[in-house]
Amino acid sequence: MERWSSRLVFILAAIGSAVGIGNIWRFPMIVGQNGGGAYLIPYFLAVVCLAVPLMILEMAVGRHWRSNLVASFGLAGRKLEAVGWLVCLIVLLILSYYLVITGWTLAYLVFSLLGSGVSFSAFSSSLQPVIFFMISVLVTGVIASLGVNMGIERIVSFMIPFVFLILLALTLFSISLPGFRPGMDFFLRPDYSMLSRPEVWIAAIGQAFFSLSVGMGVLITYGSYLKTDADIPQSALIITFFDLLASMLAGMVVFSLVFTFGLEPAAGAELAFSTLPRAFGLMPYGRVFSVLFFALLFSAALTSAISMMEVNVAAIMGQSGVSRKRASLFLVILLAGIGAPSALSYSSLDLRFYGSRILDLMDVSVGTVGLSFSALLVAIAFRWFISDDVLARETHLSRRQLSAVSNLTKYAIPIALLMITVAMIM
Ligand code: PFF
Repeated sequence: MERWSSRLVFILAAIGSAVGIGNIWRFPMIVGQNGGGAYLIPYFLAVVCLAVPLMILEMAVGRHWRSNLVASFGLAGRKLEAVGWLVCLIVLLILSYYLVITGWTLAYLVFSLLGSGVSFSAFSSSLQPVIFFMISVLVTGVIASLGVNMGIERIVSFMIPFVFLILLALTLFSISLPGFRPGMDFFLRPDYSMLSRPEVWIAAIGQAFFSLSVGMGVLITYGSYLKTDADIPQSALIITFFDLLASMLAGMVVFSLVFTFGLEPAAGAELAFSTLPRAFGLMPYGRVFSVLFFALLFSAALTSAISMMEVNVAAIMGQSGVSRKRASLFLVILLAGIGAPSALSYSSLDLRFYGSRILDLMDVSVGTVGLSFSALLVAIAFRWFISDDVLARETHLSRRQLSAVSNLTKYAIPIALLMITVAMIM
């Protein structure tokens, strides 16, 4: 059985999973659109009351049974293995389009290194997005095939400190820009009237789960490699702190740049791949900043992709008995197939379904509805079907803390997730 070499590398791997594309362009964009500073209230509440307790539960279950996700569901209830496979499928589908965007970040890193300013419309009307998607799939597969110690640990030990170093350097630089104040104004000025809108709360809860990689079995899988003496609640707080920090710093950097260069604080892909490159093109030493920014984005995306891959690699290895190499190879081939339509939807083929690009459809279907449904399944299976002792034994929380985590995971999380899933489907 594989084990992390230390608690530090486990924390780095979990931070690697949490900090990703979601922090660097999804978070600033959602905050800007949903009431600025006021949005931080539902977001922090969702993180503290829902995501963190489920994170603690996942890690406790992972370490307690030391099993892959599917086997863990099977241990919660004999007929639940199929539900475990369903969660694996949702993770795989999210990974398939996440790797397309990872490919874009790699492409832009290469373009910045070469000094070739490629516009997003030129890039997305070529076949390059497909090529860079395939490279990202392959890189993720190779790292997963090397295993927990030789693959995941080595990559996160090097990339996560690097991610925070770059983020810190970019933040210090952005504070010196004239657009810092108006940028912060746009990013954080609270508009409390937004708090009366249910969709703002739904967005906050969805983003909290997505950003912390909770409810997908990542922390059950990573937790299964954890040593017995590691403090789980403290680890959860450290991971959460660094995830929040990354999101806040990214918001500061992004909006300072946008406002300094008089650009549109537009949404999504537009912002990272077309607005910011324009800012880099206008500033002194822009090429250096561009390389740093896309290296940051690529590293963050890759370490998140690896965690989703590991959920599936561990499940296939554990349930079928094949080697890690074979499980990884199988998943690489599968992902190349499943992700191809998303990759092609932002390429010269412009693949669409009823007028919408496949990648955008994947993001609203599996990326939001699928994720909250999967978190609902995880919360119910591991809170309603197993005894309270597991949580008590693995976490060593005080009685009051334990009852808080226990009640939140048992009632508040399923109710909140059920409401969101239904609201989003409607
Ligand atoms: N937390 C990652 C991000 O913010 O980009 C995305 C993610 C990783 C979601 C792993 C789900 C997951 F299982």
